[in-house]
Amino acid sequence: MMLIKKNRGWDIKECHLTDENHFRNRRNLIKGLAAGSILAAGGGSLLGSTSALANAPSPHPIADLFPSKLNPAYPLDRELTLEKYATSYCNFYEFGSSKNITDEAQAMKLEPWTITFDGMVEKEKKVDVYDLIRQMPMEERTYRHRCVEAWSMAVPWTGFAMKSLIDYAKPLSGAKYVRMETLEDKDTMPGLSAFWYPWPYVEGLTIEEATNDLTFMATGIYGKPMPKQNGAPIRLVTPWKYGFKSIKSIVRITFTDERPVSYWEEIQASEYGFWANVNPDVPHPRWPQSHERVLGTNQRVPTMLYNGYGDYVADMYKNIKNEKLFM
Ligand code: MTE
Repeated sequence: MMLIKKNRGWDIKECHLTDENHFRNRRNLIKGLAAGSILAAGGGSLLGSTSALANAPSPHPIADLFPSKLNPAYPLDRELTLEKYATSYCNFYEFGSSKNITDEAQAMKLEPWTITFDGMVEKEKKVDVYDLIRQMPMEERTYRHRCVEAWSMAVPWTGFAMKSLIDYAKPLSGAKYVRMETLEDKDTMPGLSAFWYPWPYVEGLTIEEATNDLTFMATGIYGKPMPKQNGAPIRLVTPWKYGFKSIKSIVRITFTDERPVSYWEEIQASEYGFWANVNPDVPHPRWPQSHERVLGTNQRVPTMLYNGYGDYVADMYKNIKNEKLFM
């Protein structure tokens, strides 16, 4: 396997973390200006410059966490996909069934954004997503991504191991699965008018899968906060599974002892199963899986078992019999 080692634009030489209080004070200053409280004290001469400040877009709530340090444990065997392709060729059915939903997705409101933890947990809770992210060990990882539609990409995600999130949630020992749900907002998501689809988008993993080293909660891509079309503010990334498992824009995480039925499984169980592990030898009824088309270059490359991540994940499945592990 050839490793590509070169200096990339988003590689960080050192961390530039803004002190959090400083950052929050700056945000509050801008909010205060917008509300006029500081203007009133400052008098007329300030008016011109402060109203310009007040109109300035407020910084992203976790902007100071980017870029995060690259974790070198997951090197790629290929070039990174150019950012312009990975952020413009998207699947996000809440905004429509085309790949080009970037404009539509901009309507999604990211603040406030609450995540509910419920089901079999020590204590149910609702938390602000940005407060939650700040408690997590942020890092950057490069992963391949393989869609069941036979296209693929290789991208740098920023986020944290899902295991940290599971530790935070404190599931009860009887919980066997994690069920995740995407935002369902009819006002901003035109795709929801397709009433024949089983909204909200749901995905699930076993607890063992959710706590596997590879399983990642991504809050950014290419060293920046996650664009809306890629699943802001937080999404799942399971690189050994077909892309549809990587649920976007998560609002609810439920622990359960019953296997969740995922969105695509509910639509067509004979084509999209719960496990959905990548396997070039198990064709999908509509797409051959032996090869994949690389986004951007359109190169045709062989697909690998578990998308090349078998060393990390194959053991989880060795005792599972009579299950369709690869669809
Ligand atoms: N999550 C939600 N909520 N809605 C979706 O339509 N599409 C899935 C997955 N997560 C989807 C989703 C599919 S099919 C793929 S391949 C990936 O998101 C695509 O991620 P990307 O657009 O960031 O490449």
